[in-house]
Amino acid sequence: MNVLNTVAEFRAARAGVPEPLGLVPTMGALHEGHISLARRARAECATVAMSVFVNPSQFGPREDLSRYPRPIERDLQMAREAGVDVVFHPSVEEMYPAGHSTWVEMEGPAKRWEGEHRPGHFRGVATVVAKLFTIIAPQREYFGEKDFQQLAVIRRLAADLMLPVDVIGCPTVREPDGLALSSRNVYLTPEERPLAVALHNALQAGRRRIGRGEREAETVRRVMEQVLLDTPGFTVDYVAVVDPGSLEPLKRIEGPARGLIAARIGSVRLIDNMSLAE
Ligand code: PAJ
Repeated sequence: MNVLNTVAEFRAARAGVPEPLGLVPTMGALHEGHISLARRARAECATVAMSVFVNPSQFGPREDLSRYPRPIERDLQMAREAGVDVVFHPSVEEMYPAGHSTWVEMEGPAKRWEGEHRPGHFRGVATVVAKLFTIIAPQREYFGEKDFQQLAVIRRLAADLMLPVDVIGCPTVREPDGLALSSRNVYLTPEERPLAVALHNALQAGRRRIGRGEREAETVRRVMEQVLLDTPGFTVDYVAVVDPGSLEPLKRIEGPARGLIAARIGSVRLIDNMSLAE
């Protein structure tokens, strides 16, 4: 496995590699969720590239940029074992050289939910993903449904900038109790960890309620919210029942519906989502 730290090195190595090339963009601190994307890329692509870059521009001023885990040697080992061919691991200065002034601003699916609670987040995500696209030139890009809104934003970005790439969404990998794997789960204390499954429990409660015939989205939303309110230590950022395409809130559930949740437990902010109706 090749590990490259500069744009020039990557471009030189990129020339002539077997195609299609699949890219798995990550911020490192890899877990089975990331690895599931790499395996899918391995099964579908001639060359698998992974980027490992903790992107400062997608973190807010009061967020966890400085404490975000960066276990690079372990990450490289896991990437190697998953069959990744090349890792792009640039420095911040390499990705944002002095004078960097161009930003990808998005509306539509970037506006609500995470967009409201983390101003500037998707501007940072869209900018770095656009830069990674021009450096790595993948035919396919693999993203997790764990970050459902991010996936919608990237699909929109690729369509709007007419990037010649297939954006592929992959299912969320969970712990046995249902907690979605996340690099941020390491922040949970031993007391908080068992409570964190409340996000998944809330989504399941919403899904069950629809399964029993409920069609009012607000009723389903409240059922999910109540699960979180009943769990000690939680602060809810949002609980929503949305159209999976537009991410706009639903009134009636007559077709596909997605539940979106963001909540804090202690100092840790967690997000999760699930299909509530197909
Ligand atoms: P990161 O949080 O490291 O996630 C990298 C990719 O792994 C994302 O597509 C995310 O949705 C996926 N992922 C995370 N947890 C998962 C899980 N439990 N199951 C399946 N997939 C999972 O998302 C980012 O990094 C950044 O915003 C990035 C796109 C790299 C831009 O900086």
